[in-house]
This record gives sequence, structure tokens and C-alpha cells, in this order.
Amino acid sequence: MSNYLPEDFIEEVRVANEITDVISEYLTLRPKGKNYFGLCPFHNEKTPSFSVDPEKQLYHCFGCGAGGNVFTFIMEQERLDFIDSVKLLAQRKGIPLPDSIESPQDEEAKKHKDKLYMLNRETALYYHENLLAPHGRHALEYLKSRGIDQRIIKTFGIGYAPKSWDSTKNYLIGKGFDTQLLTEAGLILEKNQREYDRFRDRIMFPIIDHRDRVVGFGGRVLGDSSPKYLNSPESSIFNKGSVLFGLNLARKRRPVDSFIIVEGYMDVITLHRFGIDNGVASLGTALTMEQARLMRRYTQNIYTAYDGDTAGQRATLRGLDILKSVGCNARVIVFPKGMDPDDVLVNHGVEYFNKLLHDAMSITDFKLDRLQAQYDLDDQEDKVEFTTRAVRILTDVENLLERDIYIQRLNNLTGFRPELLYRYVEQVENRGGRAGLKKNKIGNNRHTTPIRKARIHVAANIKAEMHLIRLMALDDGIAKRIIDRLGDLQFEDPIHVKVADIIKELLSRDVEINPAQVLNYVQDDQLRGKITEIFGMEMEYDNVDRYIDDCIGELRRSQLEKRRNHLMEQISRMDEVQEHNSEEYKVLVEELSAINRMTKLDPFGKEEVM
Ligand code: UTP
Ligand code: MN
Repeated sequence: MSNYLPEDFIEEVRVANEITDVISEYLTLRPKGKNYFGLCPFHNEKTPSFSVDPEKQLYHCFGCGAGGNVFTFIMEQERLDFIDSVKLLAQRKGIPLPDSIESPQDEEAKKHKDKLYMLNRETALYYHENLLAPHGRHALEYLKSRGIDQRIIKTFGIGYAPKSWDSTKNYLIGKGFDTQLLTEAGLILEKNQREYDRFRDRIMFPIIDHRDRVVGFGGRVLGDSSPKYLNSPESSIFNKGSVLFGLNLARKRRPVDSFIIVEGYMDVITLHRFGIDNGVASLGTALTMEQARLMRRYTQNIYTAYDGDTAGQRATLRGLDILKSVGCNARVIVFPKGMDPDDVLVNHGVEYFNKLLHDAMSITDFKLDRLQAQYDLDDQEDKVEFTTRAVRILTDVENLLERDIYIQRLNNLTGFRPELLYRYVEQVENRGGRAGLKKNKIGNNRHTTPIRKARIHVAANIKAEMHLIRLMALDDGIAKRIIDRLGDLQFEDPIHVKVADIIKELLSRDVEINPAQVLNYVQDDQLRGKITEIFGMEMEYDNVDRYIDDCIGELRRSQLEKRRNHLMEQISRMDEVQEHNSEEYKVLVEELSAINRMTKLDPFGKEEVM
């Protein structure tokens, strides 16, 4: 169905169109728990059973069973086909359509990009080898002096660009890449009709995107000269605003419960060195909406850890608003003036860092603190102005209990009566034309259609299949692991078979895997509703690999049980006709006792799984 638009483009459009934003343009959504609820646009109802899951970017109606991603919503709502719904959403976000929607050129462009990725990977390996070669000694020493050991060097693929005008160029040309490609990737520069290496005598940090592709490099000088960092220029595969350094690693930890945004390469690396593996860096530029959305796909909980100086604080403020606007729950780690996370860890240790992390401030606290620092609250005029501006900040606090806490704090600071402060906040809020916060009894479950609750019993193996499917849809790595461990075990439920086939197909084409993406390939409405429901299931586990093993063990157990029932039936049929001397009979009995032995020894067949 998506044959005519490049997959990368479709995914870009999907990520740019936050599902709650889009759906809110059609119906009123109200938050409840992690999700949003509203009246289902696809069937008639009086109490909301239509839910939107911002984390997974899916919607699902508990009443009529409809479900899908942002594209299918638009398809249903606007009565468009898939391609047109992608185009409409691209337009909504001002994303230009690919030059030619028909394939040949796309294919070309994709091939070209793949070449650039290959070139970058080759270059990263080259730099890495140079770091370990004799002429990279001083670079290795420098890294050591900053506490970076072999393990970290490997994890991040750190390298060294030799002190030469053309070694990198010559090496890569020797590998069969042409100078034009090298120029495009920013690895060489041209001057007076001569090309020379851009990166010379620098520590090289490959910039790897969330799909594990090397998209560019950051090169640090070995001393204090400037510029301290030289970065790859933007190219068709490197857009600074859409990558986060370190996300390739941070997204792989399980569970992904939070990210810490820092400013630079060294911060991410030092965090790692101290066992904190969820740091990502926006590479010295202001956080973009796209980066925020990218993170939001993995977790809602984001910490910012920028420098304690004023520039850092300004970056923090901007970043916070962006994070909030995409639905993240952002908190600020406040550092001593002039220190970045790297300095803090190196000078004060990980315990101190963890204390700062623990004390991270909410957006509101951070804003109020900064505001307060600008005023002298013993001065009447200052006090009034401070309170007026503080009240404006409080209108953003939607939780009334939280708001109460801040109002008490304001009351302590200023002495203005709480009743008065409440009135003031409400007044400003209404003047701002905001609807107010009458979050009433929405989503009162008593009245929602009880269809889902009257579920019939689901067999344990089918449940295990459902869990595996849901996990596979989460991410490429997990999907690969599950497929690997399944071996030749088959799913029983045809819906699960279908989803597994889609995922395998996506993997083989190296398309990114996530629940919303998988749904692009399910045409049938009913089927899509059911799959969405599976994707939306709540799951709890401490260790995803153990969980996978348990589910697969259950499949194996169930398969053996079926085989055993089948064998017993056949054997007893042969018994009836007195055939127990035949060769076939012996084979059947042997298999049966083998199964019995196996299931008795280990009813879940776990030893095999290892
Ligand atoms: P910093 O100056 O804080 O660098 O710039 P750093 O990462 O802490 O590095 P060390 O500790 O001094 O070695 C933060 C980020 O800003 C970008 C880089 O991405 C850097 O990691 N930057 C900085 C540049 O791109 N160019 C520069 O010249 C400086
Ligand atoms: Mn630093």
C-alpha cells in the first residue's frame, strides 16, 4: 500500500504529526492516566471509550474496536486512501513531498544515501584503527587523561584522524569511494583545485543515529586550540536538528525509563563511564521539536542537564517548553555555575551527580526560581511584579493539587493570601481565553461499553504469542532477538502470524520498527483494530529477555502438548486395531515417551531455550 512513497518519508511524516494533536483537531480529548479519552468518531456513543496513547502513537476504541495510527485515523476520518492521508499530514506540517513520488528517483536517492552511510562507516573504522596505531598514541593518551578507557572507546567507536593532509582521502579512495562522495560527506575540502582532509589530528566521535547509522562526525582538538570541535557539515544524511548523539545507545537500555539531555559529546561519554547510560546530546545547538519527538517515542521522562551558566539556563528554558509541547514530563538538573555534567562527575563523583538528579526541578519550580532571582521581595514594587509574573507561570500548571503547592510557596514568599492568589491565577487563566480546568468525571468507566471485560478465556500460549508480538513491534533489536529464539516455532493465531510476517518483512528491508509503523501495513479495519489492541496491552516485566524466554517456553510447551495429544490419539487408534507390532507404532511410542520425559523434566522446556 505504501509502495509509492519512500518509507523514510512516511515515517518522517508520521513522527512529525503527533497523534493527540491531530486527533484533537477532530474531537475533544481529555487526559486520563497515561492516555487521552474522547467520544469515538467512528460510532455513536455518549460516554468516551475512544482512547489515544501518546506513547505508542496509537488510538483504539473500546466500544467499536476501531484502532490504528495517525494515518489510518485520517483515512477513516477524511475518507482518503493511505497515500493521500500521508500527503495531507505532510502538508499539515509543511513537509515537502519527495521530488518524484514515482519510484525510480527515490530508489536512486536511497541508494545514494546508502553509499554515504557506507562511506561514513568505513571512515569511522579507519579513524578507530588510527587511534590504536602507533601514530595515534598521543590521542589515546589524551583520552586516558580524561578517564576514557578501551571499553568506552569501543562502545562509542571513538577514533583519531591522522595529522596529515590526505591520508583519510587516500585511504577512502583506495577503498573505491570517489572524491565527490567524500566532499558530500564533508570528509574532504577543496581549495585551489586540491582536495584535503577536513579532519586532521583530532579525536573523532562518530555521530550515530537512532537506527545505528553513522551520519557524521565530531572532531575534537587534542589541546586547547580552537575551534575545539569541528563537525561534519549537513548533508542528505546528516541534519543536526534531527539527531541526538548517544541516542543509539540510550534507546537500547531496558526499560527506557528516561533520558538525560546534555550539551556535548564528552558529557554523554562521561555519563556512560560512570554507569549512567541514558545520556543524549543535542550537540551544542538548541533542542529542536524533532529531537524532542524522537525522544518522546521512547519515553516521556526527560531530564535536562545543561551547564549552570546563563547560556545554559536559557537553553534549558527553551528546551523545557519544547519538551512540554510534545508531551514530555521534563525536569531540570541544576548544576553549580560553570560546570557541565562531565565536570561534576569527574570532580564530585557519581553520588553527588545522583543527588542532583534526585533533586531535579520541575519546569515550574525552575521558572519560579529564575524569576525570583531577578527581584528583591522586600521591595513592594518588586514583590507585585514578581507575583504577577509568577501567577502567569502557574496558569500552566494543570494539576490542581500541584497548583496548590505552588500557591502555598508563593504565599510564603510574598505574604499574599492564598485565596487571593487562587483568584488571580483563575482570572489570568480566563482572560487568556483558556477553557479553564474543569476536568470532571470523564472516562467514568461504569458507563463504557463492557465488551472488552466480557472477554472469553484466552489460552496461555495465545497470550504468550500476544506478548511476543507486542514486544516485537517495539523495536528492531527485540524483534530480531525474538525471531532468533523462536527458531522454527510457529505462532498459532493467524493474526499473530500476520504481524510477525510484516515485522520480518520490515526487518529484511531495514525499515525501522515501531507499533505505529507496523500498522501501516495492515489494510483490514477489523484486523487493525485487534492488532492495535494487542499493541496497547499493559505489560510488566523486570527483564525483557527473561520475559521473552518465558513466553517462548510457553509456546514450546503448548506445541509439545498438542503433539502429545495427537500421538496419543494415533497410538490408541492403532491399539484398537492391534497394530502394536508395526514399525510405525514403535516410532510413535518412542516420540511420545521422549515428549513425556522432556515435559516432566522441565515443563517449560527452558533448558533448550538457553
Ligand atoms: P562544550 O564546549 O561544552 O564541549 O560544547 P564539551 O562537550 O564539554 O567538550 P570538552 O569537555 O570541552 O572536551 C558542547 C558541545 O557544543 C558543540 C559540541 O557538540 C560540544 O560537544 N561544540 C562546541 C561545537 O560544535 N564546536 C565547538 O567549537 C564547541
Ligand atoms: Mn566539557
